[in-house]
Amino acid sequence: MSLSDIAAGAKASATMALNARAKNLSLQGKDVVNFTIGEPDFDTPDNVKQAAHRAIQAGFTKYQPAAGMPELREAIARKLQADNGLDYEPGEVLVSNGAKQALYMIMLCLVQQGDQALIPAPYWVSYVHQARFCRAEVVIIDATGTEDLKPTPDLLADALTDRARLLVLNSPCNPTGAVLTREEFAALVELALERDLWIISDEIYEKLVYDGARHVSPAAFSKEARDRIITINGASKTYAMTGWRLGYAAGPLEVIQAAARLQSNMTSGPDSVAQRAALEALTGPQGSVEEMRVAFDRRRRLLVDGLNAIPGIACLLPQGAFYAFPDCRGLLGKSYAGRKVQNSLELCEALLDQAGVAAVPGTAFGAEGFIRLHFAKADEEIEKALERLGAFAESCDD
Ligand SMILES: Cc1ncc(COP(=O)(O)O)c(C=O)c1O
Repeated sequence: MSLSDIAAGAKASATMALNARAKNLSLQGKDVVNFTIGEPDFDTPDNVKQAAHRAIQAGFTKYQPAAGMPELREAIARKLQADNGLDYEPGEVLVSNGAKQALYMIMLCLVQQGDQALIPAPYWVSYVHQARFCRAEVVIIDATGTEDLKPTPDLLADALTDRARLLVLNSPCNPTGAVLTREEFAALVELALERDLWIISDEIYEKLVYDGARHVSPAAFSKEARDRIITINGASKTYAMTGWRLGYAAGPLEVIQAAARLQSNMTSGPDSVAQRAALEALTGPQGSVEEMRVAFDRRRRLLVDGLNAIPGIACLLPQGAFYAFPDCRGLLGKSYAGRKVQNSLELCEALLDQAGVAAVPGTAFGAEGFIRLHFAKADEEIEKALERLGAFAESCDD
């Protein structure tokens, strides 16, 4: 059978693949602590679920406008004004089936064959797939050597060519948990605007920040910034709504209208019930967000302190999101219970098979030598995983 180039070239998400493998082992009766898929272990808040019930009972189960239902686009515009200092009309907001789809729609509007998309590493792997899907060339800005794993203007300047058209920024960052300060954002945005780049600012973890770190929306810096930045966000992480598939983009009218046209042909628009649920999430009580953030904050310290106590592992304390991204180079090149581990993929395989801990190798994020764990998990699970990781490190034969 001969498949299209796009289908033949598409790789399944590494995170999803490892998650499937870990789940399979669990089904076979193995006790696995699964750190692969990053989603809150909290349930969707009750008021949100009830809004969805009401929508179903009221028969709100039909096609909605392709770019999203008007009340939700308006609520998102109000949220962006109140939380982020961003001025958007509802018409400048696109609602999609998850932030992932919003990102696809926007990338399809901004890059194509011959263009370069600049993506700082460590990165969320989907950006790379999305840019390639649009036939753009991916240029990695390698920030894996910086102290805090954040991209710098110097690194951006080194990556710039005449074909550079798009810069993707993600703060708080998946997988590092790094949060860009206003000054750090401003320096990157200034350079990108000088070179007339588009910028995608993925802010899906905005509410999950710790130690007094503040989330900044770069589109609020100036009119020039607003004209070139598309802000991405969604309900998945903030409201524990990963399965509802509800995300959005806000940006210049021309881009949003084009993305909406594409979306109308692709999915006919987001799910009607999920939209009513998201409307309640955005406009209803916000207590659950802080409750979750406080729990994640505690678990963050538990996980990172525990990781740093294991010889061979060094982990930065993430300031945002819910991921720990330990540098495990100290564990590589050694044998564990007779099994040689040379790189982060082999390390993750050995961890899964020998210690029953499922993590994602750094290569999935452009950062060999690291692994990603998350702390959207119960304290007991984190403690169990730490014990197992410690025992694994001690089982080193060398
Ligand atoms: C950085 C980042 N952006 C976007 C998304 C996509 O979120 P959604 O569930 O809304 O598609 C994720 C999900 O893991 C993410 O980590």
